[in-house]
Amino acid sequence: MLRVTGLTKSYRSAGEDVAVLRGVDLAVAKGESVALSGESGSGKSTLLHLIAGLDAADSGEIRLADVTVSGLNDAGRAELRRDRLGLVFQQFNLIPSLSVADNLVFQSRIAGRHDAAWHDELVERLGLKSLLKRYPEQLSGGQQQRVAIGRALAPKPLLLLADEPTGNLDEDTADEVLALARDLVARTGCGFLMVTHSARLAATLDRQVTLHAGIVA
Ligand SMILES: Nc1ncnc2c1ncn2[C@@H]1O[C@H](COP(=O)(O)OP(=O)(O)O)[C@@H](O)[C@H]1O
Ligand SMILES: [Mg+2]
Repeated sequence: MLRVTGLTKSYRSAGEDVAVLRGVDLAVAKGESVALSGESGSGKSTLLHLIAGLDAADSGEIRLADVTVSGLNDAGRAELRRDRLGLVFQQFNLIPSLSVADNLVFQSRIAGRHDAAWHDELVERLGLKSLLKRYPEQLSGGQQQRVAIGRALAPKPLLLLADEPTGNLDEDTADEVLALARDLVARTGCGFLMVTHSARLAATLDRQVTLHAGIVA
């Protein structure tokens, strides 16, 4: 499903190149959930951004199914994000001017992949039925993240990428939201790569890897 090979990335800071990723190898199989941990500043978000095609690596290869992400131009990477990837961030990133219902369908409509039955199932499983007319500012953090997960999974992506998705939630809400995400990921059969600080949450996924000194072990 996802195969990252020899990925490197440096940032220029105060006139010096600082190597953040020094040859990352990482694979996520179809239907597999993987937790990525590592110290703050170790490059976890950088790695997710590269996989999502939000930035370009210096060298190495990223393959998603039959596509070489690292070989695409900006337009190709935007298309890949739209059609193949689901993204969830710590800050929820819902569109404030859209209702929950409109936030939910936003991604799948843009991708031309709206599926009414799957949409209804997402609403049901995520417990969003009574919240559809509300706006993001009228929701709790846990409710907002449930909407964000629904939006990301609505187009049935090949891979769900989540960067500390429960980082702004209290422990009980984090457990509940992640359990929903795991169930839905299992239901779609997509891959799931999640950055988390929490060893407890990481342990609930299929496999745990750590980013340290620029490589994944
Ligand atoms: N756009 C950028 N420009 C310069 N340095 C950056 C940029 N993005 C991240 N960095 C640096 O790269 C390192 C890794 O950052 P990041 O991937 O956000 O780490 P993590 O998500 O593991 O906390 C940090 O030292 C950070 O300061
Ligand atoms: Mg980060």
